[in-house]
Amino acid sequence: MQHVFIGSDHGGFALKQELIEELRGMGVSHTDVGVHREESADYPDIARDLARVLLPFEGALGILLCGTGIGISIAANKIAGVRAALCSDEYSAAMARRHNNANVLCLGGRVIGPELAKSILHTFLTNTFEGGRHQRRVDKLEHPSLP
Ligand code: RB5
Repeated sequence: MQHVFIGSDHGGFALKQELIEELRGMGVSHTDVGVHREESADYPDIARDLARVLLPFEGALGILLCGTGIGISIAANKIAGVRAALCSDEYSAAMARRHNNANVLCLGGRVIGPELAKSILHTFLTNTFEGGRHQRRVDKLEHPSLP
């Protein structure tokens, strides 16, 4: 499986460490953009740092965490080229990949437990974009005036 980029603020740090262990177990290499200990951080900075390393690689996938997943998903979605999906169930994670071609999964470290988070992670990484009519809709995310 491909390389994965991952980052969190302090609110997502503990769950990020669990997911990094899970990635290791899956044999998936990763880049951790921080935080590297439970230090207070501003989630928009983490979203920016992840986007910087992820976007040069076409098709690359990222994982972002904060306390709720909300702040970091808002921040990530303001960056052109990022399609971030905040998920707390596997169905949403599958559809985020298959229909929205989401390239970043956001999770709330203070919202969901580690086992559910690992299951959502597996789902996100193993589903693929279906294209077709969904491609037209995804194109309109970047270019809303397209017919
Ligand atoms: C940090 O305390 C918290 O606000 C942050 O992790 C996140 O939940 C924001 O959306």
